[in-house]
Amino acid sequence: MQFDTSLIKKASLLIQSGELVAFPTETVYGIGADATNDKACCNIYSLKGRPSSNPLIVHVDSIEQAMSIAVFNEISLALVEKFWPGPLTLVLPLRPDNNIAKTVTAGLSTIAIRMPSDNTALSLIKMSRTPIAAPSANPSGYVSATAEFHVKRHFPNLFVLPSDNTGCGLESTIIDMSLDKYSVLRYGFITPESLSSALGVNVEFKSNSVIKAPGMMYKHYSPQASVRRDAININEGENGIGFGDVNLGALNLSPSGDLTEAAANLYRMLIILDDMGANVIAVAPIPNVGIGLAINDRLKRAAYD
Ligand code: TXA
Ligand code: MG
Repeated sequence: MQFDTSLIKKASLLIQSGELVAFPTETVYGIGADATNDKACCNIYSLKGRPSSNPLIVHVDSIEQAMSIAVFNEISLALVEKFWPGPLTLVLPLRPDNNIAKTVTAGLSTIAIRMPSDNTALSLIKMSRTPIAAPSANPSGYVSATAEFHVKRHFPNLFVLPSDNTGCGLESTIIDMSLDKYSVLRYGFITPESLSSALGVNVEFKSNSVIKAPGMMYKHYSPQASVRRDAININEGENGIGFGDVNLGALNLSPSGDLTEAAANLYRMLIILDDMGANVIAVAPIPNVGIGLAINDRLKRAAYD
């Protein structure tokens, strides 16, 4: 898709005037607001039906901008130099002199921050001349949006920047760097193995985070249909999503068994079946390695009753 500067300019003017804008990132679509504007950020929560206790990620266009908001030590700095721009969110102590709206952090003394690699997202932040707070562009608890029409059907009045697709298809990896022992709070494209090797210490997943974040605690990332995991056949009344050699109907996350391809297809296919009115979606087993950890994490939460 052609990179449309005039649309991004229009979106940046909306951000500057305190409006909300949906924009693509390399992970999923976000609903953005000026992160320094409390009223605009409050509107994100009400639009999504998001509990005000669940803080937002701030998106920046440079490491310098991030350093004006959060406290980086040498280790955090080395980590972002390696992984930014890209699908890694760091939880860091907030700087005392930050100008981020209180609603963004839900009153915590830490902040989640990332620099996206998608060109539209980066240009939007640059043109808006402000960091942008953005959760995923879905009603709270539902599957994240990976295409423009996924956003529009839930939020018809929102200005949505176009994109061919959001490449990763799963939300960013979140690593908590604010405590002595680092931990992964949300699995994503950047795996615990690659973080461990970059940091030289073992980084483990910690489900019980300091905040009781809905995205980490209970049913989330969930279609309207029920989800049955590790299916090797489809029962009557079910629709299926296959993987590799396990075919459960027309949809297969990756016939060749490629986990990157599967991640990119997951939400899109769940939404297709939801739109068809599926009651139960049976999903083939996904190997629990690499990006498969993130796919299984999302499926577990989607399947939670
Ligand atoms: O890929 C992504 O990260 C996408 C795109 C739009 O950037 N954004 C996204 O945002 O997934 P959201 O709001 O759907 O998920 C953000 C997660 C939530 O689970 C929230 O609880 C957690 O980040 N979070 C935010 N601030 C935090 C903090 N200070 N400490 C721990 N977790 C935090
Ligand atoms: Mg979300």
